[in-house]
Amino acid sequence: MSEERPVHGGRVVDDEVGRVLVSESAIQARIAELGAEIAADYAGERPLLVAVLRGAYIFLADLSRAIDLPVEIDFMAVSSYGNATTSSGVVRILKDLDEDLAGRHVIVVEDIIDSGLTLSYLRRNLANRGAASVEVCALLVREGRQKVDESLRYIGFEIPPDFVVGYGLDVSGRYRNLPYIAEFDGGGGH
Ligand code: IMP
Ligand code: MG
Repeated sequence: MSEERPVHGGRVVDDEVGRVLVSESAIQARIAELGAEIAADYAGERPLLVAVLRGAYIFLADLSRAIDLPVEIDFMAVSSYGNATTSSGVVRILKDLDEDLAGRHVIVVEDIIDSGLTLSYLRRNLANRGAASVEVCALLVREGRQKVDESLRYIGFEIPPDFVVGYGLDVSGRYRNLPYIAEFDGGGGH
């Protein structure tokens, strides 16, 4: 955790972006560790990294380069019905995978696990397509909020209940391109 000021490209970002929770260097150091761990666990395999759009796009880009194995990547987009900052658990597939999962070792790459409802749905859905294994790599897990008991094999950081933005995570489409994770102070209602 760091006390970095929320700046981006030398410019202080909007007021509604609060304290930096996880700095750019902390994220990159943790990704190097996760990549080495995954490479060791899947040695000799060709895992398929399935990123959940849109929030996981930056994490996937960095994580995939930290895994010294012939990984493949694919994307899914889902939307959970609900308002902007809470999850309802009802999930709709907006974009499905292009790859056939039969016999594949799948690693679901997620930006953040909050209630765990989105992940719970995804895991069942992917397992039903004949994947040899389905594990999860989440950059962030919100402490004490999971409604579903899911085993999460790879976790970047556990974070407190505050809503966060940056490094792929948005609020109403904004702030995904910040290179760190910061608290979101604006708006209320979450
Ligand atoms: P869950 O189904 O409650 O686990 O919600 C997971 C999804 O909600 C994530 O993949 C994010 O897209 C979104 N989400 C949850 N918390 C945050 C946050 O703090 N900032 C931005 N998006 C979030
Ligand atoms: Mg989102």
